[in-house]
Amino acid sequence: MGRLKELRKYVDSELNKLDEDKRNSAIVHLYGVSLAATMIAKKRGLDVEIASMAAMLHDMNAYKTGSYDDHAHKGAELARDILSTLQLTDETETDIICSAIYHHDDKLVVDSPMDEALKDADVIHHCMNDLSKPIKEKEQARFDRLCEEFGM
Ligand SMILES: [Fe+2]
Repeated sequence: MGRLKELRKYVDSELNKLDEDKRNSAIVHLYGVSLAATMIAKKRGLDVEIASMAAMLHDMNAYKTGSYDDHAHKGAELARDILSTLQLTDETETDIICSAIYHHDDKLVVDSPMDEALKDADVIHHCMNDLSKPIKEKEQARFDRLCEEFGM
């Protein structure tokens, strides 16, 4: 089994512990961000698999605890625990994934290319999952840049 598939199997098993509503929105978001991260990483010449894996884990702490309080930083710690248990990544890859998760809520600043890929993937899903919903002010500029980058 490929490692993305293996990671998704783990994520699915964790999400299956949630009640139905929470589980559905978690699945929609994590898989949606994962697909967006793959597209962005491919466009920018980054590692698509690592981008997708970071996306699959990026909000796991929030879903598991039911709280978004400091969820990016706590999420990076949880991702490190999960990745060290699953043994799917080497040390450098684990650091890249955890950095992307750690920074993913800092939408107004620019970090490393993989950090930016995850932030942008998160914004694409927030903004495009339901186009009738208003775009958050802190995500508007980033979404505008993405639309330009992807010719939308
Ligand atoms: Fe997210």
